[in-house]
Amino acid sequence: MENQKKIVLTGDRPTGRLHLGHFVGSMQNRLKLQDEADQSFYMIADIQALTDNADNPEKVRNNVLEVALDNLACGLDPKKTTMFIQSEIHEIAELTVLFLNLVTLARLKRNPTVKSEMKQKGYGEDVPAGFLSYPVSQAADILFAKSNLIPVGEDQLPVIEQVNEIVDSFNRLYGKTFDHVKHLVGDTPRLVGTDGGSKMGKSLDNGIYLSDSYEILSKKVMNMYTDPGHIHVQDPGKVEGNVVFTYLDIFDDRKDEVAELKKQYEKGGLGDVVIKKRLVEVLEKMIKPIREKREELAKNPEKIMQILEKGTEEARKVAEATMLEVRKVIKIDYF
Ligand code: TRP
Repeated sequence: MENQKKIVLTGDRPTGRLHLGHFVGSMQNRLKLQDEADQSFYMIADIQALTDNADNPEKVRNNVLEVALDNLACGLDPKKTTMFIQSEIHEIAELTVLFLNLVTLARLKRNPTVKSEMKQKGYGEDVPAGFLSYPVSQAADILFAKSNLIPVGEDQLPVIEQVNEIVDSFNRLYGKTFDHVKHLVGDTPRLVGTDGGSKMGKSLDNGIYLSDSYEILSKKVMNMYTDPGHIHVQDPGKVEGNVVFTYLDIFDDRKDEVAELKKQYEKGGLGDVVIKKRLVEVLEKMIKPIREKREELAKNPEKIMQILEKGTEEARKVAEATMLEVRKVIKIDYF
């Protein structure tokens, strides 16, 4: 890795706006790496989004712009990061088909990420084949650009593991062509949702979005899960599992003050409203500049599409070069 070029690639499924979980899980790493890497790519994974939204192309289409806006508003810089749309790079589809030969059905069914997503969606055996095999298409997303550093949320680690197995099989059969890839998980790999029950998820209705207004943000924090046993202000409260404190630990820089508040809360005499108001202010400070930049950018959607078009052209050149090499080693380079 030391003398290897650092090529970063990451992506989002365009199925909804991005939330705080995305921000601490991978966005912060994206922003850092676009300055450190030799090359940096950001993909809007519309084909992957269609694997479980085939009946709703409208939703996928509309969210392409939304996730682009979220990323640009957070500070992803098209001068440093090549931003492109997955479906526009046909080589990715071609590479996926070739990689599918290197993966068994049994292995796909064992992938813990896919397994839990299948369960969440209630698919059972009736899972779309495209969805079951999305880790294979994700391998193509990553390897077409020969990228080796992948900032992702913690839930994606089994997918990255499977990518490396595909690298091994490919190299064994056709000669050394790809390098192993490395994942990078943020400081908070898994952010609990506002309900305290599970991780923040687009489909779980427990998220705070990077584009939420102050009013919505306040409402969500005020409804946050705290300690159900903490009924009166003077009652001692629990800090563990209390989402407000979990978030203060992550987002509030004034650690000493938070430690003091925790002590007070555990002793009794500190009401939920006080800590919730504090959290609203902390989150608003972080989200406000993102929201404002997003609103500014959203006034000119054509400009965003131009950025994506230009990035797509750049990514296509890289993909063509890789596919020439791949066709050659698989001996499907006829004319
Ligand atoms: N599966 C990723 C997610 O749900 C999105 C994604 C698609 C991705 N292709 C990728 C991430 C390539 C990293 C690299 O978050």
